[in-house]
Amino acid sequence: MKVIIVKNYDEMSKEAAKIVSDQIEKNSKSVIGLATGGTPEGMYKELINKRLSWKDVTTFNLDEYVGIPKEHPLSYYTYMYENLFNHIDIKHENVFIPNGNGDINKNGKEYDELIQKHNGVDLQVLGIGENAHIAFNEPGSSFTAGTREVELTESTINANARYFASKDEVPKTAISMGIGTLMKAKKIILLASGTKKMFAIKDTIEGPITEKVPGSILQKHPDVTIIIDEDAAKALESRMHLACACEE
Ligand code: F6R
Repeated sequence: MKVIIVKNYDEMSKEAAKIVSDQIEKNSKSVIGLATGGTPEGMYKELINKRLSWKDVTTFNLDEYVGIPKEHPLSYYTYMYENLFNHIDIKHENVFIPNGNGDINKNGKEYDELIQKHNGVDLQVLGIGENAHIAFNEPGSSFTAGTREVELTESTINANARYFASKDEVPKTAISMGIGTLMKAKKIILLASGTKKMFAIKDTIEGPITEKVPGSILQKHPDVTIIIDEDAAKALESRMHLACACEE
């Protein structure tokens, strides 16, 4: 596990965008796994500004809410078009986002098969929840699960309520890539910023590998880079020994 500590959110976004753009420049046909939420928004802005070509790139998103139409203003489908796809030259047919309507577990199985058909994800971008969830794999999720319907915890519903008119409107379930699915990605980057994430980051990097801390499984992946700002690094005991790119 490589850990990069940077000064703030903007530096985290730049560092992450550089890794994604290097991947696409190295292989124009890359398969990139993408996340939603507040954390990657800055990275998407940086990527748009780089004006690189995505015309041969394929993307697979981590998750989607269950039971809201994909055109809903708060669906992850809408998020991805607004934050990235409307601003780059990606082909609509190369964009894959889990389908949160219909037979969810069937959709999940087909999604995993589709990823395999594309020879897997070359670079997966992850955020992390305050409870250390990755994608929507909440504490207790199996480390071997594939894409499937998952229940969101109270903590995740509360965290996501900021986007909805009220907490009651936050969907209670989602379709999410499983940990078994995302651990197959060839390379993973995980981004986190802010003190709200500091304990999730500490447990992910320094804690025991346990299903109670979904992020901790990343310790077993052969190629993971964790990019965090100083606030998210605050609880790390090992932070003094880690390279900090936080020049004044
Ligand atoms: C989003 C996802 C989630 C988020 C996590 C952090 O596709 O899979 O795991 O990465 O909930 O969300 P933010 O970035 O909003 O703090």
